[in-house]
Amino acid sequence: MKLPQIIQGGMGVGVSGYLLARAVALSGGLGTVSGVVAPHILAHILQQGDPGGHYRRALSAFPFQSIAHNVFAKYFVEGGIPSETAYRTIPVFSLRLPRELVELTLCANFALVWLAKEGHNYPISINYLEKIQIPHLYSFFGAMLAGVNVVTMGAGIPFQVPSILDAFAQGQSANYRVAIEGSPGEAVFMEFDPEKFFDEKLPPLKRPAFLPIVSSDSLAKILLKKAKGTTIEGFVVELPTAGGHNAGPRGTPKRFNDQGEPLYGEADRVDFEELKKLGLPFWIGGSLGSSEGLAEALSLGAVGIQAGSIFALADESGLESKQKSHIRRQGYLGDLRVITSQWSPTGFPFKVVALPGTTSEDAVYQARKRICSMSYLITPFRRPDGIITSRCSAEPEKKFIHKGGDIKDTLGKRCLCQGLLASVGLGNPDEPQIFTLGDDVSFLRKLMADKNAAYTAADAMIYLTRGKQGE
Ligand SMILES: Cc1cc2nc3c(=O)[nH]c(=O)nc-3n(C[C@H](O)[C@H](O)[C@H](O)COP(=O)(O)O)c2cc1C
Repeated sequence: MKLPQIIQGGMGVGVSGYLLARAVALSGGLGTVSGVVAPHILAHILQQGDPGGHYRRALSAFPFQSIAHNVFAKYFVEGGIPSETAYRTIPVFSLRLPRELVELTLCANFALVWLAKEGHNYPISINYLEKIQIPHLYSFFGAMLAGVNVVTMGAGIPFQVPSILDAFAQGQSANYRVAIEGSPGEAVFMEFDPEKFFDEKLPPLKRPAFLPIVSSDSLAKILLKKAKGTTIEGFVVELPTAGGHNAGPRGTPKRFNDQGEPLYGEADRVDFEELKKLGLPFWIGGSLGSSEGLAEALSLGAVGIQAGSIFALADESGLESKQKSHIRRQGYLGDLRVITSQWSPTGFPFKVVALPGTTSEDAVYQARKRICSMSYLITPFRRPDGIITSRCSAEPEKKFIHKGGDIKDTLGKRCLCQGLLASVGLGNPDEPQIFTLGDDVSFLRKLMADKNAAYTAADAMIYLTRGKQGE
């Protein structure tokens, strides 16, 4: 399968939903849905009454209807819940997943891909963060049931993925080794045996291509070495200017600017000549969202670019529309500031748009009651009494310390799950939003006729390729 020159990057939480991925695919790019936090997205949309009936349509195509019915019965609310009402909580991801959560995860990933692929034959990919390990097996399987063509994954070293995709495509069960903090070498294996779980004959599944997202040529080499006996179909190389999470700076001592943002240097330079030697196609992401950026990537030996911010601000993205217009306006006027924060509980730098009323502001964040109810960014660890449990450095400090955590690890950490969900209009009442974007939004001046203008994913595709996509 020859993949397009332009990959629309996966953008969680819900920023690259099926509408955006589908629009990009129909315009000649590789559309990517974000599978990050997919269970909450489905559960909340069903509780909003599923306006338009799209997710109900997708669920009616799920191959195991009794499971789709369970999910529907549990979460669907005709007409939607009142806007001031909190969403029903869903079980938290832990090493022993209740069946209800497995079913929701399978259906959510299936629905996103199914809707993105509806009515055309162009490839669609799905994106995950390696750091959020516990849902992976069920997420992959759900996406594969809908015929996902590509899986992309960064924020960690996703060396286990290729063989899992192989196993599922062969109708076999698969394991995922979940790392345990503080016990190097120790891990817990999660297992998913689809035949046993569904207790029915499985439909034939295609093995999607796998494109790990890497920040260095050396990581690409390691992944390829570890993939012996299976396949990796290419790489996405993400530079530190990209939106979302970034790799931390390499080399010591670490340097920071006056605002405490990490500074990148020579040690972070990717050696594209070394990467070329691996003989696999690669795409480069990070402030390359222009036809000049595409030309630059091609000159470095890439087959194309992965662009995020330009699509995040397009009409079809999931970003809540009032804030999207505001961000576009600020960006058009040159007044947008993007912070490379250290707030993410993952420990990776995370880009945040400085925006009044969001948790990018200290006062807004301090006023938020510290709670952890979604728990995607948890880290499993072994307690002194031997029991394995998990914690998130953005959860209430008392809880974190009670679990044996060090208060120092909670300092400056901010909850992302709730704020990101709120940024796509799916958050709980009173949860402030948080927005992420890459460093460069210079494309706005080219795509917008004035500060209040808008643009579509198709406009973005034409701008990126000078109208030559698919050639
Ligand atoms: C709003 C937003 C959310 C993102 N979320 C993710 C994510 O969940 N997973 C991921 O691998 N990359 C994520 N990214 C990175 C993009 O996939 C892409 O690689 C990056 O945006 C490219 O740089 P650019 O924004 O300068 O075009 C995100 C980027 C944006 C703008």
